[in-house]
Amino acid sequence: MIEFIKSLPKAELHLHIEGSLEPELMFELAKRNNVEIPFSSVEEVKKAYNFHNLQSFLDIYFQGANVLIHEQDFYDLTMAYLLKCKEDNVVHTEIFFDPQTHTDRGISFDTVINGIHRALKDGEKDLGISSKIIMCFLRHLSEEEAFKTLEMSLAHKDKIIGVGLDSSEVGHPPSKFERVFKKALEEGFLTVAHAGEEGPAEYIWEALDLLGVTRVDHGVRSLEDEKLVKRLKEEQIPLTVCPLSNIKLCVFDKLSDHNLKSLLDNGLMAMINSDDPSYFGGYLGENFIQCQKELDLGKDDLKKLAINSFKSSFLEEAEKDKWINKINNL
Ligand code: ADE
Ligand code: ZN
Repeated sequence: MIEFIKSLPKAELHLHIEGSLEPELMFELAKRNNVEIPFSSVEEVKKAYNFHNLQSFLDIYFQGANVLIHEQDFYDLTMAYLLKCKEDNVVHTEIFFDPQTHTDRGISFDTVINGIHRALKDGEKDLGISSKIIMCFLRHLSEEEAFKTLEMSLAHKDKIIGVGLDSSEVGHPPSKFERVFKKALEEGFLTVAHAGEEGPAEYIWEALDLLGVTRVDHGVRSLEDEKLVKRLKEEQIPLTVCPLSNIKLCVFDKLSDHNLKSLLDNGLMAMINSDDPSYFGGYLGENFIQCQKELDLGKDDLKKLAINSFKSSFLEEAEKDKWINKINNL
């Protein structure tokens, strides 16, 4: 099965580039940039990766990002992730970045986006991996801050396909960002949002109705609302599910309790993603391998998940069809 999983071309649609910062690179960048980190070894960092909810993770995730200073750091971070994609046969990736995590520390928007974008271009040329960039607003910050970030992004519209919403979900409903998302849509961005990870099904309704999202990130709590399931099924709205993340952040107790298979059985457009792989114990391949084992997924389930990843992507229809045909012929 591991070989079969490897052989499947896959698209990743839910990946925070800051969440792919491996402890080894964190140390290297800390040294290179003279930044102090509150850990003395890679082992100590890994030990700190024990989370009891989303917030306990975010506190460490924002701290880790402090070592990213120069354009080259963002390049190195992104290139390291692309090399993992190559190992896992991820042929297309749509990555999130959180500009406010950096601009709030005095790093310019241009430094961040230019480093990420240059690595993605090299990844396309040298590794054959296609990609898109999605800019996320941090939802624990204000609407005004999000508007300022949107303003900064306009000079880079050619590099950014859409906007998203991440960070602390509960208490920061999508409705808080209705006006910013309206402006983003008017500017031609696609929209997505984290909803129904820790927050209630109501937040998924808001993401759909107020933010006009094309995809829902996570959305695992949708099964709590029958009417919502009907809507998601009828409109085949993708749910970018992140199984290992959900276990690490205690959304489910253990992987065998995860509702990924139920989402598929309910006719929903779900697929597998890694979210913040350095923090959650595995990249996309590892998410597939562990789900296959714990949820007893067969080859047809795995093919469906890979096909869903391309169907739900922002690729051109012809590109989607090319990959879907390849999977169907396996
Ligand atoms: N930022 C990075 N990972 C996240 C997640 N899983 N949920 C919300 N915000 C995030
Ligand atoms: Zn996420």
